[in-house]
Amino acid sequence: MKTFLKPILLASIALMAFACSKPVNHVSSPDGNIRVSISLTEKGEPQYEVSHKGEAIILPSVMGFSFTDAPPLAENIELVGTKTISFTETWEMPWGEQRFVENTYNELKAEFREKSALKRRFDVVFRVYDDGIGFRYVFPEQPNMDEVFIAEENTFFNLNGNHNCWWIPGDWDIYEHLYNTTRFSEIDALSKRNHPNLAQTHIPVNAVNTPVTMRTDNGLHLSFHEAALVNYAGITLQIDTENLSMKSNLVGSERTAHKVAQQTPFNTPWRMIQIAEKATDLIASRLILNLNEPNKLGDVSWLKPTKYMGIWWEMHLGKSTWDYSGTQDMSTWIGAKPHGRHGATTENAKRYIDFAAENGINALLIEGWYTGWENWIGTDAREGIFDFVTPYPDFDLDEVVRYAKEKEIRLIMHHETSAAINTYDQQLDTAYALMEHYGFDMVKTGYVGTIIPQGEYHHGQWMVNHYQRVIEKAAETKVMVNAHEPIMATGLRRTYPNDATREGLRGQEFNAWATDGGNPPEHLPIVAFTRMLAGPIDYTPGIFNIKMEPYRSENQVNTTLAQQLALYVVIYGPLQMAADLPEYYEGHPAFQFIRDVGVDWEQSLVLNGEVGEFVTIAREERVTGNWFLGSITNQEAREITIHTDFLDPAKSYKVTLYADGPDAHWDENPTSYVIEELTVNHNSEITLKLAPGGGAAVSFVVE
Ligand code: NOJ
Ligand code: CA
Repeated sequence: MKTFLKPILLASIALMAFACSKPVNHVSSPDGNIRVSISLTEKGEPQYEVSHKGEAIILPSVMGFSFTDAPPLAENIELVGTKTISFTETWEMPWGEQRFVENTYNELKAEFREKSALKRRFDVVFRVYDDGIGFRYVFPEQPNMDEVFIAEENTFFNLNGNHNCWWIPGDWDIYEHLYNTTRFSEIDALSKRNHPNLAQTHIPVNAVNTPVTMRTDNGLHLSFHEAALVNYAGITLQIDTENLSMKSNLVGSERTAHKVAQQTPFNTPWRMIQIAEKATDLIASRLILNLNEPNKLGDVSWLKPTKYMGIWWEMHLGKSTWDYSGTQDMSTWIGAKPHGRHGATTENAKRYIDFAAENGINALLIEGWYTGWENWIGTDAREGIFDFVTPYPDFDLDEVVRYAKEKEIRLIMHHETSAAINTYDQQLDTAYALMEHYGFDMVKTGYVGTIIPQGEYHHGQWMVNHYQRVIEKAAETKVMVNAHEPIMATGLRRTYPNDATREGLRGQEFNAWATDGGNPPEHLPIVAFTRMLAGPIDYTPGIFNIKMEPYRSENQVNTTLAQQLALYVVIYGPLQMAADLPEYYEGHPAFQFIRDVGVDWEQSLVLNGEVGEFVTIAREERVTGNWFLGSITNQEAREITIHTDFLDPAKSYKVTLYADGPDAHWDENPTSYVIEELTVNHNSEITLKLAPGGGAAVSFVVE
């Protein structure tokens, strides 16, 4: 039986600060395994190094900044003091993978000052946890530094070997790339430019996006990312394949020479390194949340995780369209000629609402209900196309809202901004007022295309501030946000719990229309150990019509149907879509798992897994105490034995296994599955037989 955090720990918040008389130059994790040391090079460059159980993992690596209007902060610097703190608390997540999170670290604050005339000051704060480290730069208010224009942050990460890496290119615009598995010395991001299926990409140098995960030849796992990205540019890590070194390369803008504009006092986001002996501990870690500030929104009991359906996949399949007509008078819609394939009609919305209500799915996303889609597709003149308030003539918003309320279905708003940012900013008030008026409490935003104003990128400071504005606007109206084409998650959901979920990866949609064969079977077993470390994912699982006949016979989902079920547990998100069309769920026995599965968890256990190969996660649902387990594999078949010691010995459970059939295979026979009732208690073992590209899902429902 694993040991779990007990609620009683909540009360045991302690903060111990020690004022040190002489500077210390190192700090260790509470368990003593991880150690960070700071020093200065001969030239007076601040540097840090990190070891794990005595093995150097980050070799001495310098830190500094260059500016567009001031000399760099790099050399000729002295250490003027240090402070250490030990901190421990247990905090409660309003929703999430678990209810209670332990946050225990030792902190070292190193205070640096230039020796030359300007005497500029900055601190580097290191927090060392048992599961990794975070450090950030803090610029206090000071005479010779007021407005700050950062040309580049120069934080190095010098590695101790040519590790195995799971990476996507350092694209300034989008994370929707397949993961590459190579040695560090073979990272070649520039070969990933000009992707045929992406509406925007910008990969200026050989760099990777974060999280990037690595395994050393000694079997240690490292993952590099950032936490608490606020009013700053997103990070990419530039790769030096010869020296086995990485350096921060911030996302910039063509409109300014600087990459970040700030004003003292300010601090940078945390630079974060997860360190884990077992791959599974990367997923179990809550380091990114612990590095973020506590909830700033106060009472957030209005946030309700949910499963949802959508008038969505049918557009990706080409069964219907977002647009209503290609030949109408766009100014008045008078005389508009419907082409008859519009997805978001009142009638179709009611069909989905009926199905969702009958099957315990509590929400519905409707895309393509407002005007503008005809003008968007294939044009660069995107400003002013969408207003998010004007329905197409065949969509009666009042009636759909009325009907959804009657059936107790929450509607999810959709705002496809088409990356026309000023248009969206200008319409935030009216768009959110409409949502408030109708009682929408969730929005899915989208940012397809290159950013307008031209010269900005999705991951630069200007856009980071836009995404943040939307979160804060949504919080005012008590709305949860699911962003597509987002900025990567950096744990801000702790501070703004309505920052619920996002895309930020190659989602299921690529299986519908990608011209490169879709997401291969290894995709999600990599995602679980890379992208998922950043935060919740709107992957949109649950496709049963794997071969997509008759709509997309040239494409398919590259997993078995049983794996689609397992994803509800493995790929975490507080908004989980049942993505397929009602007609493919109707009368389907496997749909029972989607009806039953939880979305909000008391605790999560990562039972086994290796990056890119397989992973098994069990989660206990809040309130009900039901457990759900998901296991997925890459293209290899495998047998996995699960000990059910996580179950409560005092309870009895109805246990249902949804497994790949004996002849299942992601390509040759993806829909072969079996459903078995099992007799299991907390002392049992279950053997899961996963087919190539397969998976298994188990529900343990308290009786
Ligand atoms: C891309 C998003 O990822 C997808 O979910 C959405 O349907 C389309 N954009 C249209 O907004
Ligand atoms: Ca997308």
